[in-house]
Amino acid sequence: MNLLVIVTILASFSVNVALSRRKKGSSPKPRGTFKQMCLSGDGSDYRGYVSETTRGHSCLNWNRFPHPWGPSHGLGNHNYCRNPDRSLTPWCLVRREKRIVRELCNVPKCSTPTVKPPPAADTELTCGERSERRMYKVVGGSFTPIESHPWVAAIFHRRQKFLCGGTLISPCWVVTAAHCFSDGDETNLRDMTVYLGKTAINETDADKEQKFTVERLILHQQYNDTTYNNDIALLRIKSRSGGCAVKSESARTACLPPPHTRLPAGIQCTIAGYGMEKFMAWHYSQYLKEAQVKLISQADCKRKLYYGDLITENMFCAGTPDWSTDACNGDSGGPLVCEVSGRMFLFGVVSWGDGCARENKPGVYTQVTNYNKWIAAKTGLPKYTQGLMYPAK
Ligand SMILES: *[C@@H]1O[C@H](CO)[C@@H](O)[C@H](O)[C@H]1NC(C)=O
Ligand SMILES: *[C@@H]1O[C@H](CO)[C@@H](O)[C@H](O)[C@H]1NC(C)=O
Repeated sequence: MNLLVIVTILASFSVNVALSRRKKGSSPKPRGTFKQMCLSGDGSDYRGYVSETTRGHSCLNWNRFPHPWGPSHGLGNHNYCRNPDRSLTPWCLVRREKRIVRELCNVPKCSTPTVKPPPAADTELTCGERSERRMYKVVGGSFTPIESHPWVAAIFHRRQKFLCGGTLISPCWVVTAAHCFSDGDETNLRDMTVYLGKTAINETDADKEQKFTVERLILHQQYNDTTYNNDIALLRIKSRSGGCAVKSESARTACLPPPHTRLPAGIQCTIAGYGMEKFMAWHYSQYLKEAQVKLISQADCKRKLYYGDLITENMFCAGTPDWSTDACNGDSGGPLVCEVSGRMFLFGVVSWGDGCARENKPGVYTQVTNYNKWIAAKTGLPKYTQGLMYPAK
């Protein structure tokens, strides 16, 4: 016991001696600003403590040799690398085979401060805004910049082959049609790429585009590939860095309307997609196009003349009175959005139709507002699916 106490006292004594000895012996370190502690430019304002050369030699104390420089150049009673004469980079004097020579030092560079703002994401309160409303009129639709439809997603299979359109509804989730995935749950997600901000299928604009892999594909469990009932699917997207969509002029979310919202027949809405060419056109239009279509009442669309009982309560029809424009092959999965109080709300997903722009055969769309609950359950995003931004009656 006594021995232990003595040992402890001795130990603390020797530590104190060591500490005070070190205090006495060490040279005062010159104070430097943060910037002076690393290499910026030629390092003439470097005031850090590197004291070894690139060759691995120890620097010698500056005061041991005559030189014309003083403390304003950072020199003094120490051996740290300095650049008083604006050489290439800080240096010091070393002893090499009985000679005193200059050697350059390897001072770590100042990394340029990367104070990136956190990537902006659309929230449920900023959906459905677009920065442009330009369009260029062509027969049966209009070319349009992606900024007019920033929620439009382009889904590719094996990089090259355009598969379907889609709609960004939250930074990580795209709504599309279930019928786009003919392999159903067997679909190989590794084959799929999703782009936002794409104006043309065959062109790349790195400034506008965002590219994603597909992390999850959720097909509606009651999707029927004969009747196209419940033709809806969700994709969870992931960028290379592991993030989701970043808000920009060319990539935004569309709003979801509240559950079971219906707009009256005759209301004009907008469809957008990379297809919309004539039926059987052997290639897609390549450029994003848009068209205005009018909602057709459920009763009208269920008439024999139109589609009869092929129309379920999970579908609705829209077209133009003169049947000139319609969604078509290649538009599948893309959005039908309607403007309400200055915001764009996703009401429909391009699903099917008998030909394209054929008389009495309007386009048929998945009734998105029947799926708010399903989307909330699958994505875990109850706020996005409440329809918060929809004006209260
Ligand atoms: C993309 O396709 C359009 C129409 O097919 C064509 O005019 C254009 O030159 C193509 N662009 C590129 C980069 O291949
Ligand atoms: C699809 O719907 C048809 C008609 O209602 C029905 O006969 C068929 O069994 C359904 N298929 C599936 C896979 O549910």
